[in-house]
Amino acid sequence: MSSEEYPNIRSGGSLLLAWRIKNKNVLIVGGGEVATSRVIKALEADALITLVCPEKGLKDELKYRIQQKQIYKWINREFEVSDLEGIDMVLSAIDDPIRSEEICVMCRERKIPVNVADIPLMCDFYFMAEHRDGPLQIAVSTNGQGPKLATIIRDRIAGNLPKGIAEAIKSVGLLRQKVRQVDPSHTSSKKRMNWMSRICEQWALEELKQLDEEKITTLMTFYENNDVPNFSLIKERTLQKNLDENFEKQIDSTKKGRIILVGAGPGDPELMTIKATKALMSADLIVSDRLVPPVIFSNITCEIRLAPVKSGEDKSQESQNEIQTWCLDALNEGKTVIRLKVGDPFLFGRGGEEVTYFREKGWNVEVIPGISSALSAPMAADVPVTHRNLSDQVLIITGQGTKGRLPELPKYHEMRTTVVLMSVGKANELSKELLDKGYPEHLPSVFVENGNRPEERIISATVSTLGEVVEKQHIVSPATLIIGRSVNALTN
Ligand SMILES: C[S@@+](CC[C@H](N)C(=O)[O-])C[C@H]1O[C@@H](n2cnc3c(N)ncnc32)[C@H](O)[C@@H]1O
Repeated sequence: MSSEEYPNIRSGGSLLLAWRIKNKNVLIVGGGEVATSRVIKALEADALITLVCPEKGLKDELKYRIQQKQIYKWINREFEVSDLEGIDMVLSAIDDPIRSEEICVMCRERKIPVNVADIPLMCDFYFMAEHRDGPLQIAVSTNGQGPKLATIIRDRIAGNLPKGIAEAIKSVGLLRQKVRQVDPSHTSSKKRMNWMSRICEQWALEELKQLDEEKITTLMTFYENNDVPNFSLIKERTLQKNLDENFEKQIDSTKKGRIILVGAGPGDPELMTIKATKALMSADLIVSDRLVPPVIFSNITCEIRLAPVKSGEDKSQESQNEIQTWCLDALNEGKTVIRLKVGDPFLFGRGGEEVTYFREKGWNVEVIPGISSALSAPMAADVPVTHRNLSDQVLIITGQGTKGRLPELPKYHEMRTTVVLMSVGKANELSKELLDKGYPEHLPSVFVENGNRPEERIISATVSTLGEVVEKQHIVSPATLIIGRSVNALTN
């Protein structure tokens, strides 16, 4: 190791830091010109200021600040030691050197950083000559040796700064925020810093200044691959995107497409609402979930597309994307599109997601409710889901919650009927979970397979035999499971 390898230590300096005193308690003692300038500085750093000074000693500006409630607390008397209670920083600006020294000693005893104006030995920190332009702060220190010179140097520096530097800094701040939003992981911190540094180095200040929300969105498309494009490319692409969007908007304003989310009910055409039937008749395109049986479209002549078959969480999202693209294309052609779902669209039907999606694309979605299997299947099995003295509440759950997991179940309650959709593949797991939650093992249960359809089957079970019954009876989807004392309400 040689001494050339590392820089020489130049002792005697101050540690230059930007002290964040937002919402910290700063005590300012005095009411003259220096105290006023301290108040301004502290206010600009969003501190909570306590000012101690008798009214007669207050400069007009301080009276104004007090009146405007910019000063958190004004104490109308001379300083007392109790004023130091809860204080994070003290700025003393009084003409009495003996009292100043006492204040300094009291602060140091209490480890409160203190600055006594004009007495360097009583300063734990100095004020620096500062230039401020928006988020930019440049500070010059001569370590107490030449404050006037510091202001001259500051003015020279400020005079040489390029115009609009504050805007450039604000834009970079926005970009930085966006990058953190898009890629928040701490493992990406190096990538984020490196990419941001390259942008700052490669782009002129004039260019950085022009970064607005739209250009930032365009620029962010390069972040994933860690590319730093030229500013001109970003400008060009953003312009093009705006032109495309305006063009699309113009087309939008002339088209008359319509999208209706329709609940088909459990599968019996007679159990569809009149409104739903009319909507199907008016359609140019019906995009239907596969659980809706063909009999529902027997009188329909328009184009019908069934949801693509894809299993697994990612695949089902792929299928959802494909469906949405079909609908959007047809809407842009001015067609009436029916998005058809079994039962009710808003009960375990992803109906809400689709409404959000189309709204985001600028389409108003009409929704027509349907009879949900959650209520029609129990009825098909002669089960009143509520029944005096047997059940006064109904819980409807899915066997396939987020990531295919069972949802969190509440403890057993004898007055509750539990209805489980999508339960077939989860019967064993469900049985265990229910027992764990205190459901009695012999509690009556019933599966309704293809309820309200010609192939309907009603199969009895108990909480402990759910898995076994599904297997032995070869129960298949769509089937709804009903559990609770109400299951036998009409059979006894
Ligand atoms: C994706 S969820 C859709 C639920 C639908 N939105 C509703 O309100 O009925 C599909 C589940 O609905 C239930 N289901 C739909 N039609 C049914 C029918 N005809 N008989 C019994 N259960 C049915 C089954 O539990 C099936 O697994």
